Amino acid sequence: QDDVHLPHAEKKTIADHLRKYESLLTLTPQRMRMIVHAFEDTLDIGLQKDGQIVPMIPTFVFGWPSGKEVGEYLALDLGGTNLRVCLVTLQGQGKFQVTQTKYRLTEEQKQDEGQKLLDFCAECLDSFIRDTLGRTEEDGLLPLGFTFSYPCSQDKIDHGVLIRWTKGFGAPNIEGRDVAAMFMDSLKRFNVPAELTALINDTTGTLIASNYVDPHTKIAVIFGTGCNAAYMENAGHIPKIDSIGLPKDQGMAINCEWGAFDSFDHQHLPRTKYDIIIDESSNKPGEQSFEKMIAGLYLGEIFRLIICELIDAGDLFLGQNTYKLEKAYAFDTAFLSLMESDITDELLTVIGVFTHFFGVETTLEERQFFKKLAVLIGTRSARLSACGIAAIVSKKGYLDEGCAVGADGSLYNKYPNFANRVHAALVDIFGEKGKNIVTHHAEDGSGVGSAIIAAMTKARKDEGYF
Ligand code: GLC
Repeated sequence: QDDVHLPHAEKKTIADHLRKYESLLTLTPQRMRMIVHAFEDTLDIGLQKDGQIVPMIPTFVFGWPSGKEVGEYLALDLGGTNLRVCLVTLQGQGKFQVTQTKYRLTEEQKQDEGQKLLDFCAECLDSFIRDTLGRTEEDGLLPLGFTFSYPCSQDKIDHGVLIRWTKGFGAPNIEGRDVAAMFMDSLKRFNVPAELTALINDTTGTLIASNYVDPHTKIAVIFGTGCNAAYMENAGHIPKIDSIGLPKDQGMAINCEWGAFDSFDHQHLPRTKYDIIIDESSNKPGEQSFEKMIAGLYLGEIFRLIICELIDAGDLFLGQNTYKLEKAYAFDTAFLSLMESDITDELLTVIGVFTHFFGVETTLEERQFFKKLAVLIGTRSARLSACGIAAIVSKKGYLDEGCAVGADGSLYNKYPNFANRVHAALVDIFGEKGKNIVTHHAEDGSGVGSAIIAAMTKARKDEGYF
């Protein structure tokens, strides 16, 4: 029970608060094992038929790359925060070169008409090809892999119906429609000298790119603005594509869309009231429950909601103007990273964050509390993520032989200790054998991965398969 609002309650000390948040945000090994169990069942159900909570999307990426893929490919990456355009030159034997430019997406663009968002992608691609690469129609059409990192159901690789937006996007008139067809329309109207070969998810790209350079990699996870994973499944274990008649041992990459785990019913995850506020005030209440407790888009907001609770209770920043902290999503997850990296005695970076960005003064005791709170939130995110990885590992029976997990995204790359915490959690879940599962920084899936997939697709088509 939350009693900070009771008028006669004794004044809480910072240590009291910390104890409360510790108990709310800490995941015991036993609790994690229960989550893993439920997660594994959910993944199985997703493979059985369409329309399940965790969609387990067959991606029509057939098996692992040979490592011999070569050639020049364009890659377009519409992630959660940026639009990136690349030219990838695959040189074979795990080698490649990348030339790229990046555009920051505005909040308006994320909510703008769907076709307009895709038109913007086409225009950026066009200026990259013409201005940066100095190519025109006369040089021929370059093959293009489009990394569109939202749940799309596919029945071939250059097709994908957007099931729902995630990560705060809300552009109308695109959910339920074939994004690839809409994008081809944009390419045509803007006369872009490129040909869409494959529509892929960032996790699938990461899986293939990481395996291209290290064949030991069997799972890929993105820990960025959103959180999701992909792995390779045998067609014989994907009942919902039985009708295609693939050989049972044919590999097919699965984009899990695991961010949706525990959506709507909320039976398995220990959601706090801060998670519930984030969910209910989001543009997609009820959805992406797992992602909302883990991903970079939300961690700073969890921290901010806790701080605001303490301000409201009169236990923080009394007499100071706190309006900057009261704005939703004002506390970027990068601030948590910064605070966790601060090893000075006075916590000088934490001072900087609060005075500089929010105009409030802090005591050393408060700063120590903030840093500990960041540790709790970051650790919960890493431990929940480990539950997802463990579910795939145990489903695929990878524990004994071990496997590498290619990981990418701002949280994985920039958040201090994130990887160590995932590894420690895997040991909590599996015991010593958990050490056989090791994450490593993945190759650029949205760029290089998408190029390799475009190359694999082309080779498959040349051989006469779909
Ligand atoms: C969200 C998207 C998913 C993507 C992930 C990481 O979960 O739904 O498609 O892979 O974010 O970018």
